[in-house]
Amino acid sequence: MRGKRILLGITGGIAAYKITFLIRLLKKNGADVKCIMTPSAVDFISPLVVSTLSNNPVGIEFWNKQNGTWNNHVEYGLWADLFVVAPLTANTLSKMANGSCDNLLLATYLSMKTKTIVAPAMDLDMYAHPTTQRNLELLTKDGVQIIPVESGELASGLSGEGRMAEPDTVFEYIENIVGASKNDFLGKKVIITAGPTYEALDPVRFIGNHSSGKMGFRIAEEFLARGAKVMLVTGPTHLSLENEDLEFIQIKSADEMLHEVQQRWTDCDYGVFAAAVADYRPKNKETEKIKKKADDMIIELVKNPDILKWAGSVKTDQQYLIGFALETQDLIKNGTKKLEAKNLNMIVMNSLKDIGAGFGVDTNKISILDNRNNLESFELKSKEAVAKDILNYLKTYIG
Ligand code: C5P
Repeated sequence: MRGKRILLGITGGIAAYKITFLIRLLKKNGADVKCIMTPSAVDFISPLVVSTLSNNPVGIEFWNKQNGTWNNHVEYGLWADLFVVAPLTANTLSKMANGSCDNLLLATYLSMKTKTIVAPAMDLDMYAHPTTQRNLELLTKDGVQIIPVESGELASGLSGEGRMAEPDTVFEYIENIVGASKNDFLGKKVIITAGPTYEALDPVRFIGNHSSGKMGFRIAEEFLARGAKVMLVTGPTHLSLENEDLEFIQIKSADEMLHEVQQRWTDCDYGVFAAAVADYRPKNKETEKIKKKADDMIIELVKNPDILKWAGSVKTDQQYLIGFALETQDLIKNGTKKLEAKNLNMIVMNSLKDIGAGFGVDTNKISILDNRNNLESFELKSKEAVAKDILNYLKTYIG
């Protein structure tokens, strides 16, 4: 997102206030933001707020009546990497669908050299009206991407379909379009570990953990989407992944995972070790099922190999290595220790204390620390969005 030029078109709906959050998200992620408002949008949100947050003057009229300067819609069209109209009212939708051009926002839409996406926002009956649906279809046919409305409470007091997508969702759409490219990691080789390991006690029992493998799988998908060749070494999970650029390797124990990683790591450009590897395994694996005997039972454990540490110990300067850690406090101190001990470029830290972060769930809340002493903390997000953040960070890190 860094340096990407996002042109935001704000129209006159109550959801316009939500755009302040979107502008902040975009700015926080390094985008350049310029805003155009329709004259009626000014009744819903002050241009002063919009210009302050975006750090740019706001375009409203074709020309400034005080000093006669011209707001050039053609220049806006050339400047932007993406035009986002949010909220999109039924009125502006209808004008966009029909090529009307009676304000700066509409003239800019007609002058756009790149993609336009829109986030409609209106009352449920207006949204459901055949005219609105027909206009949305027309826009889609013209190549405009529609961010689906959400269902819920509406400004009218009614409840139903028509709410503008939340700023986080609009941001994800923007990021998907301008944030990543199919060529980001073209032809690069990545090894990813995921899931738990199962350390056998006997033929039917094991020591394991609740890791679902979701984070590692989402990272694998994101690398594949950006052109990489991926080797995914995974412990037992319910997930599966198929892709012509993917080698899918299923293992059970840490020893097996180490063996598979050792076969491949030297040949890779990047390593992302997201597996929750058991630190210890039973010293003896019984060949027969252990029988119930005394009231107490002691199982002797021995330490498992640290796979990530091994990869760090043989890493070259051309290879980049990312580890994961569950840290709850002193992120910088504990993260730095682990970065150094395992010779990593980056460590992704998450905390089981945060609601919605960690094992088994679809969301995660991470901080990334790198070996150049940069720390960046992210909001709670879907694991898909977290995977994007990790790859974006890696891309910027590599430079
Ligand atoms: O030292 P700690 O277990 O906290 O480190 C976690 C990181 O190390 C994760 O990236 C995990 O995948 C990796 N790891 C490993 N082999 C182990 C233990 C952890 O690769 N035996």
